[in-house]
Amino acid sequence: MAASIEGKVVVITGASSGLGEATARHLCANGATVVLGARRVDRLTSLAGDLTRRGGRALAVATDVTDYEQVKRLVDAAAQTYGRVDVMLNNAGLMPHSPLDRLKIDDWNRTIDVNIKGVLYGIAAALPYMKQQKAGHIINVSSVAGHKVRAGGAVYSATKHAVRVLSEGLRQEVKPYNIRTTVISPGAVDTELTNSITEPDVAESMRKFYADVAIPADSFVQAVVFALSQPPDVDVNEILFRPTRQEF
Ligand SMILES: NC(=O)c1ccc[n+]([C@@H]2O[C@H](COP(=O)([O-])OP(=O)(O)OC[C@H]3O[C@@H](n4cnc5c(N)ncnc54)[C@H](OP(=O)(O)O)[C@@H]3O)[C@@H](O)[C@H]2O)c1
Repeated sequence: MAASIEGKVVVITGASSGLGEATARHLCANGATVVLGARRVDRLTSLAGDLTRRGGRALAVATDVTDYEQVKRLVDAAAQTYGRVDVMLNNAGLMPHSPLDRLKIDDWNRTIDVNIKGVLYGIAAALPYMKQQKAGHIINVSSVAGHKVRAGGAVYSATKHAVRVLSEGLRQEVKPYNIRTTVISPGAVDTELTNSITEPDVAESMRKFYADVAIPADSFVQAVVFALSQPPDVDVNEILFRPTRQEF
């Protein structure tokens, strides 16, 4: 497995915590070069420093995925510094759940901007390099909520459904360029995601749910590794996983 990771240049959005950070740590420890994007530069820089001290290759680039120019700068930095872009992991996301009748318009806008436009911008920034290389792998992060909707999660679910639809359209379009596409849909995984919920009562009940069922971030990392580790002619398009105890 390490052979399919070693030497790859992997760009990860949302690398400052949770699933993105865990994936960066694992891939870097197994010989990948990781290019890390997120807004919290202090966390990104300290992660890159830690990975480098352990003998890895890592670059931190302050990136707000709602701004196409910043996402382009992140991916361009990977290509300019390391010569290629093998994997684009569009992982940055938010989950500010709330019932629609609370009219949390700002939350809706942020969720759409990060979870949908952020993924699109990642695709836009990586595709030209991958087309030219005639190789690459774009991994988009959806959710169980990209397959189902529940009261309180309509907007989040809509964005995660959109990620799956975009991924399937992308899969069909990039066939001529030998680019692989994977969409990963996790269930509850223990990260900082519930911190993005702005309604205190909703946050409290979601935290209780997570405390009860959530599984470690390594579950996600193993899904990424599985997709990356296939032979070049095998394209794993969808992975959906949940905690064994999760009903939804
Ligand atoms: N954990 C779960 O249970 C679960 C389940 C299904 C799907 N997911 C998905 O997994 C992905 C990662 O989330 P997580 O669980 O690891 O949560 P997390 O620990 O809160 O991480 C979210 C990451 O997204 C980044 N981010 C947020 N807004 C951003 C922006 N405007 N520009 C750049 N980066 C931004 C954050 O970095 P900064 O704040 O530093 O920018 C952070 O690194 C999300 O797409 C989420 O929807 C998670």
